[in-house]
Amino acid sequence: LPAPQANVRVVTLKIDGLDLSAREDETLIEVCRENKIPIPSLCWMEGLSIVGACRLCMVEVSGSNRLVAACSTRVAEGMEVQTNTEQLQRYRRTLVELLFAERNHVCSVCVSNGHCELQWLAQTCGVDHVRMPYRNAGYEVDSSHEMFRVDHNRCVLCTRCVRVCDEIEGAHTWDVMGRGSDCKVITDLARPWGDSSTCTSCGKCVQVCPTGALVKQGTSVGEMVKDQQFLPILARRRHLR
Ligand code: FES
Repeated sequence: LPAPQANVRVVTLKIDGLDLSAREDETLIEVCRENKIPIPSLCWMEGLSIVGACRLCMVEVSGSNRLVAACSTRVAEGMEVQTNTEQLQRYRRTLVELLFAERNHVCSVCVSNGHCELQWLAQTCGVDHVRMPYRNAGYEVDSSHEMFRVDHNRCVLCTRCVRVCDEIEGAHTWDVMGRGSDCKVITDLARPWGDSSTCTSCGKCVQVCPTGALVKQGTSVGEMVKDQQFLPILARRRHLR
């Protein structure tokens, strides 16, 4: 971390019993990542704006009667945080199961099998089956782009693609349309991706997608490895804020 600027205070707090210090403008998830305290997350990505959509990063803060999202909660002096209680484990497991039930995340036939953050979350949260009925939604697959493909059946609506396209590439090709189960990411006001006049084909959206929703054309099951070479740029961006 760069040295704190003169006008940024340092606060002390306790996370899982560890005494830690942090800049007052840091969020709980940033402090946890710096101190190698694992917290699951899906929508958060270092360097992108925060949406707090997936709720997987919920933690317990002593003295408050509610759970808070670690990605959107700033540290405070004297804060005491628990990141891995039984209640949190139960909630996270349920959230991951709901994501699996909502769309069609069939790992065995997915190009991201073995390289998928949702799959990894299921493993770390102990999800070996889904207790709620699957919706068996049949969303479309848009293969109109010459290099990439979007399969809405695999999308978890983390909106990382929307934010990286807007905030890093500056193209604003992606957006979100609809509500509830009709919600989906779209390109150029819901035109096919291949007809987009704003897409630069940079592939950043594909690289930040945590699942097999955004992939390169021509990849087979298990082949889609996200190299994420530009992620250090995102990390540096955070320290410039
Ligand atoms: Fe915090 Fe998604 S990572 S709400």
